[in-house]
Amino acid sequence: MKILVTGGLGFIGSHTVVELQNEGFEVVIIDNLSNSSENVLDGIVAITGKKPIFEKFDLRDKNKVQDFFKRHGDLEGVIHFAASKAVGESVENPLLYYENNLGVLVYMLQELTKLDKGNFIFSSSCTVYGQADTLPITEDAPVKPAESPYGNTKQVGEEIISDTCHVNPQLAAISLRYFNPIGAHPSVEIGELPIGVPQNLVPFITQTGVGLREQLSVFGDDYPTEDGTCIRDYIHVVDLAKAHVVALQRLLAKKNQSNYEVFNLGTGKGSSVLEVIQSFEKVSNEKLNYKIVDRRAGDVIQAYADTKKANNVLGWKAHSTLDDSMKSAWDWEQKIRN
Ligand SMILES: NC(=O)c1ccc[n+]([C@@H]2O[C@H](COP(=O)([O-])OP(=O)(O)OC[C@H]3O[C@@H](n4cnc5c(N)ncnc54)[C@H](O)[C@@H]3O)[C@@H](O)[C@H]2O)c1
Repeated sequence: MKILVTGGLGFIGSHTVVELQNEGFEVVIIDNLSNSSENVLDGIVAITGKKPIFEKFDLRDKNKVQDFFKRHGDLEGVIHFAASKAVGESVENPLLYYENNLGVLVYMLQELTKLDKGNFIFSSSCTVYGQADTLPITEDAPVKPAESPYGNTKQVGEEIISDTCHVNPQLAAISLRYFNPIGAHPSVEIGELPIGVPQNLVPFITQTGVGLREQLSVFGDDYPTEDGTCIRDYIHVVDLAKAHVVALQRLLAKKNQSNYEVFNLGTGKGSSVLEVIQSFEKVSNEKLNYKIVDRRAGDVIQAYADTKKANNVLGWKAHSTLDDSMKSAWDWEQKIRN
């Protein structure tokens, strides 16, 4: 079965391509390499022994998207990762984000709705919940006003898919709301490749660990949490990748309960920034240079998933621990710096 993975050379996309190929799917990747490298293909081949088909082009080119779907009439599903994801950049350049994250989504759905059947998986985010009123966060928690244009693209993206599914019963879609994906493949053949200064905690920690960054700033230790630092639900990228295969198989087997579904993907366990640092120090045997600084605008205090729906309805569960994730992130960082 042939599956299109957009953004398949990126962090989560590449791990998902590996899991799809391991399950026997034939994968076609579209990526414009705006936040990835063609070398990622070698990592995928090293793990799976198979080279996915790769087409390098920018999905904002609607003609190329249309032409692609004409040439690949035998697609059984689409997993749509391609997007821009830097929150700060989205504030500086909102139109880039609306074009890349929403314009492209519309083009994909326009092509899928031309077919007699379409299966679509969308990369959404726990950012849609903002600071949720109750924890852990269920899928029924209200969507809060977005803190950034990036966050808004995930909210509006979900609405676009929901509205489209409503009038296209032959289309089936699932939005997966990721909590905080971290780590790398245990083979250390693929992992996260942040360009420039990492925006996320874990790559910042590992880059500080190898000496690429001098010091990690911990934004605030006076939050109403046990140790005063913010709490997130860190999920190993391989667990997350496997959830995409399970979601796709759900659609292919027509086990979905409606033609648009939403699932949280997290571990259900919240970890504070200081706990993540401790985990890093434990698995790396390194002391991390960090200092506590003022709070940062826009940070929610705590967010972790209620995983019951993913566990019981989707039939998927995260297995890796925070230490497993941190160990793989550290192994990967050391490999790429050598
Ligand atoms: N990483 C996270 O923390 C996180 C959390 C929640 C949701 N998400 C979402 O998951 C998805 C994947 O995230 P990721 O961390 O793997 O990001 P990533 O940047 O590593 O991967 C995205 C890939 O899409 C490609 N791409 C971007 N725009 C494109 C375009 N116009 N045409 C073709 N290719 C294009 C990039 O080159 C990159 O390879 C994104 O939609 C992101 O918003 C990520």
